[in-house]
Amino acid sequence: MDHFSTDRLTAERLNEDHLADLVALHLDAEVSRYLGGVRAPEVTKTYLVTNMAHWDEHGFGLWTLRSKDGAFAGRAGIRHILVDDVDEIEIAYAFKREFWGQGFASEIASALTDIGLSQLALSSLIGVVYVGNGASRRVLEKSHYLLERNTNRHGEDVVIYRIRR
Ligand SMILES: CC(C)(COP(=O)(O)OP(=O)(O)OC[C@H]1O[C@@H](n2cnc3c(N)ncnc32)[C@H](O)[C@@H]1OP(=O)(O)O)[C@@H](O)C(=O)NCCC(=O)NCCS
Repeated sequence: MDHFSTDRLTAERLNEDHLADLVALHLDAEVSRYLGGVRAPEVTKTYLVTNMAHWDEHGFGLWTLRSKDGAFAGRAGIRHILVDDVDEIEIAYAFKREFWGQGFASEIASALTDIGLSQLALSSLIGVVYVGNGASRRVLEKSHYLLERNTNRHGEDVVIYRIRR
């Protein structure tokens, strides 16, 4: 589970060596537009610690993604999330801008969904997306997630998509 590959990406379990790449990713305003806004380096450091602890507790979590030439491409994963006080498990993904528009998110969403439903045998997975994030909504729809409902999360209007095993 610490490593996996898709056709064009390799995934490595999040570790402390990934901090600099994550800081740079989270400082990009376009990338962070639908992720709650730009994060200061110390906020990303806390994010890294939290998500490494998620791995220790649950045996799954976020991976760092690289293209096959080794370049950092982004991060993605499967993790617990509290939505309207209910403990859910979401898939999440974010890529550096130069990787957008080439099907990478669809490729990783499909892999994460397979890991979550088949390998981890989870009963369902959700995607939580800002209403205006058309690209991410399309990624979930292409991976056969169904639109479930609208809600508000941290003051933002979001949509919940779900796929069941
Ligand atoms: C959202 C994101 C992950 C998409 O990654 P990507 O690799 O470009 O996505 P893909 O190429 O696999 O697929 C995008 C799909 O959305 C479509 N799309 C792009 N912009 C769109 C828009 N504004 N509205 C609707 N659809 C859109 C594309 O045409 C494509 O669909 P298609 O394959 O049917 O043509 C990427 O833009 C990103 O990392 N954004 C910043 C972080 C983020 O928002 N993460 C998601 C949080 S829920």
